[in-house]
Amino acid sequence: MCGIVGYLGGRDAYPVLIKGLHRLEYRGYDSAGIAMVSASGELNLYKSKGKVADLERFAESKDISGTIGIAHTRWATHGEPNDLNAHPHYSQSKNLALIHNGIIENYSVLRLELESKGFRFRSSTDTEVIVYLIEYIMQTNGVDLCTAVQLALHQVVGAYAIALVAKDNPDQIIAARKSSPLVVGIGEGEYFLASDATPIVEYTDKVVYLNDGEIAVIRRDAPLKIVDLDNVEITPEVKRLAMNLSQLEKGGYPHFMLKEIYEQPQTLYNCIRGRINVEGTNVVLSGVIDNRDKFLHASRIIIVACGTSWHAALIGEHLIEDLCRIPVEVEYASEFRYRNPVICPGDIVIAISQSGETADTLAAVELAKSRGAFIYGICNVVGSSIARATDSGSYIHVGPEIGVASTKAFTGQVTVLSMLALTLARLKGTIGEDKFVRMVQGLQAIPDKIKEVLDHADAIADLSKIFTYAHNFIYLGRGYNYPAALEGALKLKEISYIHAEGYPAAEMKHGPIALIDAEMPVVAIATTDSIYEKTISNIQEIKARRGKVIAIVTEGDSVVRSIADYCIEVPRVEEPFAPLVASVPLQLLAYYIAVHKGRDVDQPRNLAKSVTVE
Ligand code: G6P
Repeated sequence: MCGIVGYLGGRDAYPVLIKGLHRLEYRGYDSAGIAMVSASGELNLYKSKGKVADLERFAESKDISGTIGIAHTRWATHGEPNDLNAHPHYSQSKNLALIHNGIIENYSVLRLELESKGFRFRSSTDTEVIVYLIEYIMQTNGVDLCTAVQLALHQVVGAYAIALVAKDNPDQIIAARKSSPLVVGIGEGEYFLASDATPIVEYTDKVVYLNDGEIAVIRRDAPLKIVDLDNVEITPEVKRLAMNLSQLEKGGYPHFMLKEIYEQPQTLYNCIRGRINVEGTNVVLSGVIDNRDKFLHASRIIIVACGTSWHAALIGEHLIEDLCRIPVEVEYASEFRYRNPVICPGDIVIAISQSGETADTLAAVELAKSRGAFIYGICNVVGSSIARATDSGSYIHVGPEIGVASTKAFTGQVTVLSMLALTLARLKGTIGEDKFVRMVQGLQAIPDKIKEVLDHADAIADLSKIFTYAHNFIYLGRGYNYPAALEGALKLKEISYIHAEGYPAAEMKHGPIALIDAEMPVVAIATTDSIYEKTISNIQEIKARRGKVIAIVTEGDSVVRSIADYCIEVPRVEEPFAPLVASVPLQLLAYYIAVHKGRDVDQPRNLAKSVTVE
């Protein structure tokens, strides 16, 4: 949700900034812009509606000299995506330029106040008020830029990551954060600034993650200085990045999404490595073991998440109730945070988030914390805000996920939840030894089972051609496969823009079955499990109304095959792990349909990967 990049050092800033914007484009891609102090001392600002490539075309013939600059890729909240509303924004005098990620909630009050003092705004954004306010404070109080930022931010209500450059100071970038991420990269005589580490990793592995309420004063030939809004100096905590550059490239695949689908055998292997022993007889999730008393005495677990992570949470609910016999509730983080939830002593709140930056999930974590709950995080991005805000947790270790539609993060989340449930079940004694070992070995085998699914990709690509022109889709599943159906439908709608709904198969008869006719494709997940027979009856009901059934079945299945129009086989796995194998063909089906429709698979319209506004 908006990407921020900054550079200050000895190199030409422009290529670093543009490359950085490309890396952050997954965060928003409706407009982009750049501000640099040029070699001749001008504060040049170029911006353009559209993608970063449009900005590059626009800036081609312009003065792009300078060794300091800030750049932004936008996901519009206030004001439609156009050249004027794109960031950076000049101050009234054009002596300052600012970029912003987040939402300023009291912007209209601040804007009215500034307008009454004679300021004239150029855009309809909430952002422009910040830079006008900062300049106004500098002028009226006679203070330097950093002090003006501190004073201005005391007046601002909302979420922000901001960065500023000044025309008269080509040796300084000021950046600040509250609820939106910012990372400073420290190189040899140079600094990088970004919303996440991906634009930084090719230059340095030394980074400082800013915390809420902190301001980074980035100066040429001087150490990084961090102060808070009251000017108390904070010692920067330098961390080492574990990520490498090849993880951020497409590696020969046409899209990040396809690359990430194909990475799943390896990413899941990485996820379980060091947690499941080689013999497959034990699983140790250290976050659970380290907090064994809390988990052993938990009277309830509440899982909060959004989007795909919420679907993983639903599978977690099944796993934990099934294996550990602890009641679990799953909540949309956006609802949880606003409905005065009951949180009792002994409750554990688990927050699931790929990015670790989703504003609603972070707010749900803060709320649960304020009510005294123990909070456990399941995140992908190391050092992210949610990972840092939780009491303990487990990373999913699937590497950077860049395609906006989540794939490998989903299977990573489900794998961590499976390991959590198994670790806890053993601690609590709610699982017999034989079943425990069978399940652990079953989970250990999943990366290879997913390889087998991927071997059928060509058949799925062929099948997808038949359904490219569908306007609606229904996805059905039961038990563990119901959340997999929801996730399959979400994948399709996100990237192909085909309307798709996921339902528990037995619910069809309570309304949605009215939608079925010979035109309606129905994806039914019907793997061989404890409710297989029931699912078959539900498929019969669809066929009786001439729906077109694409069934996901266990290899060797002949019963569903005789009813369904098309079948995709997946390997036999332990029942709780069925979503791990069933979701992969659904990812491929959505991917190929979107490709046939000519969609922008990695950057679908209106979406962003990291939703840092509520
Ligand atoms: C956005 C993304 C989804 C993601 C959701 C939650 O909507 O497009 O793919 O599932 O945010 O993100 P999180 O990073 O918290 O898992």
